[in-house]
Amino acid sequence: MTYDPAAVAAYFDDLSEGEWTRFEQTLGDRVSLARHTGVLERFIASGSRVLDVGAGPGRFTEVLHRLGCRVVVADISREQLELNRRGAATRGYAASVESWHQLDICDLSVFGDGSFDAVVAFGGPLSYVFDERDRALAECLRVLRGGGLLCLSVMSLWGSMHRFLPGVLDLPLDANLAIVSTGDLTPSVDPASRHHCHVFRSDELRSFLDRPDLELLELSASSAVATGHDASLCADPARWQALVEFEERACRDPGLLDAGTHLLAVVRRA
Ligand SMILES: C[S@@+](CC[C@H](N)C(=O)[O-])C[C@H]1O[C@@H](n2cnc3c(N)ncnc32)[C@H](O)[C@@H]1O
Repeated sequence: MTYDPAAVAAYFDDLSEGEWTRFEQTLGDRVSLARHTGVLERFIASGSRVLDVGAGPGRFTEVLHRLGCRVVVADISREQLELNRRGAATRGYAASVESWHQLDICDLSVFGDGSFDAVVAFGGPLSYVFDERDRALAECLRVLRGGGLLCLSVMSLWGSMHRFLPGVLDLPLDANLAIVSTGDLTPSVDPASRHHCHVFRSDELRSFLDRPDLELLELSASSAVATGHDASLCADPARWQALVEFEERACRDPGLLDAGTHLLAVVRRA
């Protein structure tokens, strides 16, 4: 599948505020938010200069602000960038944002080599660029200083199928088998949808990140045991706390890496 940047930008322009609510639906989505946030809390040091690329409306820009980072925000969608800018004012993270840029993760040429301590690419920018993913990864690594960290998440094949099973079963079997074999959700396999992306298997992501210029520090699922369950299951704080404990273990278990909607990875630039 050939990457179509205009279609991606148009999709997220039209999605508008809908992007914010994706972490608030099922229990697994809430776990995913907690686990993405936890990665930033564990790996990103206060005072870091961070590029939040594919930042969307700013969930993680806000977390980076709370962690005491200086943040540069970037997104291909003008509307998502505008939501991020508005969120900065209404949710109080503007003081930490150096600048906002409408750009493509495949071309970070406005930033110099080694200019960031960390790059955050959460929610799948690397899933949207299809055949340009090597270029996108190379750009993320180029703008990192030596020893800098890239925190990323991409859409997961089996976990997304689990989470969105009713919609999956609405598609003809041939279309689903094509998605399983290529990992590509394209206009030809799902003509009714405008959400086109590549969904990864954990082995595939591991191979993609297997490069001499980086070290894979962590690979996990965004949720495992909670994927697909209803949020009401954990209204009680003690049950939620127990679930978070289980998920910390389950999401790293090799047998469950593919169980979440996303695969989460942290890599260090050599
Ligand atoms: C699913 S949202 C994730 C937003 C946010 N990072 C989060 O995790 O909540 C994906 C975001 O990536 C942006 N995006 C997709 N492809 C991109 C690309 N090639 N370059 C930059 N941003 C991109 C979209 O516009 C959208 O705002």
